Amino acid sequence: MCGIVGYIGVDDSKDILLTGLEKLEYRGYDSAGIALLDENEVYVTKVKGRIAALREKVDANTAATVGIGHTRWATHGEPSEDNAHPHQSGSGRFTLVHNGVIENYSEVRDQFLADVPFKSETDTEVVVQLIEYFVAQEGDVLAGFREALTVLKGSYALALIDNQNSDQLYVAKNKSPLLIGLGEGFNVVASDAMATLKETNRYVEIEDKEVVLVRREGVEIQKLDGSVVERDAYVAEIDAADTEKGTYPHFMLKEIDEQPVVIRKIIQEYQDNEGDIKLDNDIRQAMQRADRIYIIAAGTSYHAGLVGKQFLEKLANIPVEVHIASEFSYNMPLLSENPLFVFISQSGETADSRSVLVQIKALGHPALTITNVPGSTLSREADYTLPLHAGPEIAVASTKAYTAQVAVLAILAVDSAKAKGMDLSFHPLQELGIVASAMEALTDQKEEFERIAKEFFATTRNAFYIGRGVDYYVVQEAALKLKEISYIQAEGFAGGELKHGTIALIEEGTPVIAISTQENINLSIRGNIQEVAARGANTCIVSMKGLEKDSDTFVVPAVHELLTPLVSVIPMQLLAYYAALHRDCDVDKPRNLAKSVTVE
Ligand code: G6P
Repeated sequence: MCGIVGYIGVDDSKDILLTGLEKLEYRGYDSAGIALLDENEVYVTKVKGRIAALREKVDANTAATVGIGHTRWATHGEPSEDNAHPHQSGSGRFTLVHNGVIENYSEVRDQFLADVPFKSETDTEVVVQLIEYFVAQEGDVLAGFREALTVLKGSYALALIDNQNSDQLYVAKNKSPLLIGLGEGFNVVASDAMATLKETNRYVEIEDKEVVLVRREGVEIQKLDGSVVERDAYVAEIDAADTEKGTYPHFMLKEIDEQPVVIRKIIQEYQDNEGDIKLDNDIRQAMQRADRIYIIAAGTSYHAGLVGKQFLEKLANIPVEVHIASEFSYNMPLLSENPLFVFISQSGETADSRSVLVQIKALGHPALTITNVPGSTLSREADYTLPLHAGPEIAVASTKAYTAQVAVLAILAVDSAKAKGMDLSFHPLQELGIVASAMEALTDQKEEFERIAKEFFATTRNAFYIGRGVDYYVVQEAALKLKEISYIQAEGFAGGELKHGTIALIEEGTPVIAISTQENINLSIRGNIQEVAARGANTCIVSMKGLEKDSDTFVVPAVHELLTPLVSVIPMQLLAYYAALHRDCDVDKPRNLAKSVTVE
């Protein structure tokens, strides 16, 4: 969590930092700050709240060609001005921004900094005080910085200013993401390329436990022992326009609308000249070798994994277990002889998933990451990567990444079935084309979803979603979407399970939304709806063309029965969007959340 940005160059850094931080707000937005270094004077401005508030507070008259900035998702200490970054050392010489969690910060404070007064409750202030402590001991900033890093345990992306040297930023990383952006006469540092695309599209990666000296005319990457590392730069393939809302009121609505285009892009990227599936042969072989697949993910990606299990088991006959990453780490199940781990992650940075990746790599098991960010940590550290091609997803609530994950999992499953010599009548690329058109038909009916959202969610305190089979997986995602952005307490239940306890919560007017897209459960889920209607629930049925009844609230176009989650989820996303909108919630930046969760 948290986003950091740094600049050293010839222009005024203020606006570059603030604009960069705005692009990083998805990583956390409870407080923010920047530090500007002009000659030997450091100007720090901090706020509790968003970057917009920081922008207002920053003194327009302060100009500086060196600066660092931070947007925060609180881990140690409440969101407040005191706890906001940047933090400074006791003498004021060093100023630091940090993304990550220092696990041994209280031991470090006790051992080295017992006499030092602290101004905040953060682990970060310990880091900057420790740097000052070691600089005093070593008599040299770089040596002191390195010494401090050898003591710290945990995750960090750090950018440090020394007010006695306006020609250099000191940067380091361990486990948290950080990139160096290269320019002519300037260089930038950011948690995500998106933050600095206005300045440059050339980046160089930093690896864990490396230190980088960032100067106007160049960067020098060093290992902790001081040896210099040479690394080529690459060009980021993100279009700056993709990170803007355009004419949309919210990124979430834009991203919902982009889903048909994303599905078509996936069809194109995963198709060879003969119209067959195009997939890296190494991945194909890894799938063949696996006797069981362990899908590891969190949040929405976990829900995509549940759908993926259906594809892999039904189409390719491979047993699959889907695990919540944070649980797997501490409660590892008995593993098969030849497991393949599949990590599903929009951001590719989720710390819970990464911790599983580290564990299973230590056991010598292979890993495939399915992600929207191919250069991300999970992608770099796994053996193989399948990209989602969804373009940057900026709204905190995931929409297009979910459908992209489901589509890529379908392609992977069919490819594995074919590689096994299985004869399938299911052609995923053609079927996905039909899905894209169905999605378009749904996103064209926004007024209808706005009306339904008003009817069911305008004032309710809670809501239930029910489904069976694959629809059960979709209702879990539907409930998560509603919870995340509208703060309505919502649960996605297996239709048949509701009566075993949770039905006690149904009162007069409680909204219960059912999805019915599968012929074999169409009657039973309608039976479950009758049960709750008889107890006063306000019921809504979203069914699939061919299975509908006159009284259904909405009917989605028919697609192949395996791919129904890709279309039934669209009404659910739009209902959540309009529910949040009408309850005056901040759709793109819901309270307490962050998009990239880099703490466990
Ligand atoms: C956070 C986000 C969720 C997301 C989850 C997993 O909690 O708020 O929207 O689904 O992380 O993220 P990932 O990037 O691994 O898919």
